[in-house]
Amino acid sequence: MKLLVIGSGGREHALVWKLTQSAHLTQLWCAPGNAGIAQEAAAKTGKPVECVPIAAEDLPGLLAFAQDKKIDLTVVGPDNPLALGIVDLFQRQGLKIWGVNQKAAQFESSKVFSQKFMEKYGIPTASAGTFSEAGPAKAFCATLGGKCVVKADGLALGKGVLICSNLAEAEKAVDEIMVGKAFGAAGARVVIQEFLEGVEVSMHALCDGRTAKIFPTSQDHKRALDGDRGLNTGGMGTYSPTPFLTDAQLADTARQVLEPFMRGCVAEGIDYRGILYPGVMLTQSGPKILEFNARFGDPETQVYLTRLKNDLIELLAASVDGTLDKIELEWRPEASVCVVMASGGYPGNYPKGKIISGLDAANALSHTKVFHAGTALKGGHIVTNGGRVLGVTALGKDLRAAQAAAYAAVETIHFEDAQFRRDIGAKAL
Ligand code: AMP
Ligand code: GLY
Repeated sequence: MKLLVIGSGGREHALVWKLTQSAHLTQLWCAPGNAGIAQEAAAKTGKPVECVPIAAEDLPGLLAFAQDKKIDLTVVGPDNPLALGIVDLFQRQGLKIWGVNQKAAQFESSKVFSQKFMEKYGIPTASAGTFSEAGPAKAFCATLGGKCVVKADGLALGKGVLICSNLAEAEKAVDEIMVGKAFGAAGARVVIQEFLEGVEVSMHALCDGRTAKIFPTSQDHKRALDGDRGLNTGGMGTYSPTPFLTDAQLADTARQVLEPFMRGCVAEGIDYRGILYPGVMLTQSGPKILEFNARFGDPETQVYLTRLKNDLIELLAASVDGTLDKIELEWRPEASVCVVMASGGYPGNYPKGKIISGLDAANALSHTKVFHAGTALKGGHIVTNGGRVLGVTALGKDLRAAQAAAYAAVETIHFEDAQFRRDIGAKAL
């Protein structure tokens, strides 16, 4: 099979790496890809992966490329092309594509849509209200004593969620989003949730419109600095599995969340084929869903795919074809840890073009894989080209061993002002 993968981050490098191991793959292209993706090759044929300079949002360009190369399956990494309707576009042209369609992408592109859906179908979530005017929104914050989370409805580059500890902060947050339009049209409506305390974990489930197959749990580290301090980022590191849910508790959570989710989708005429990634808070009164994403997490994908035993092409094809009920997901028992190495200054401004050394030495370590995110090839060197630069990922017999292996690999890699957390996985130890 000939595949096209869309995207350029660490998630997409992990997807490409896993897909190249498939017995079904003959050749793979990635748009636009990165320097690490360009170093992969199909295991079966030895054909190198080719990166093509087409942006993930250039839907007509991607369609023309897929038609020209007679791509058998396109795999979409990021949320933007999904929200723009790339799946619907490809399907109208008779092309096979993996990812959620535009209607299903609303679970991520509209927090108001998701909140109302969760309430309608009895999915456990925070007490919440949805508002299109500032006055009633502020009045609702007051009923929560100001301890709440104010969320812009639409996609806001992960910045549209403001956590407030008193009413003055909450009113300011509502004003910033709804009156000051800090996130533009994404803030025309807001969801306001009660502030939930607990341990936050990432859940993933692969869906085919009828069946949802749950993954093990993982945990991201969103803040820039050790001890969960500093600014929010796209994610500074992950590990899987987590010790916070037993297998029985995970199965129970899946029942509480995925069964009503799939039932609700059928009732609403939403054909959900792709990944469902709920953010979950494990509270004293049970798991509560904070939000839904409609794509693989980044860097959750890096730890999941290093543990996944199945052939990924077979899984994604079953997700598209509606045959997931015939497949069991199989996971390596080892733990996986991914440490993100970022550019100095991230998530604020950061320089690009810093030469990265030590990559080959890191990849030569056993059970270690360095996934590239913001990298580029320049003058024969691999250089930094984004905020999150690398996802240094290692397997170990347990979490402690995986963590030690990941950090041993990090120590071999150098670029000027590299920034990374030293406590990925520490909460579980
Ligand atoms: P979201 O994009 O909705 O997942 O929110 C981003 C982050 O804000 C989450 O990963 C949580 O850490 C935090 N958060 C969101 N909603 C809540 C809530 N109701 N209570 C506490 N923290 C929250
Ligand atoms: N791990 C955070 C995200 O993918 O949104």
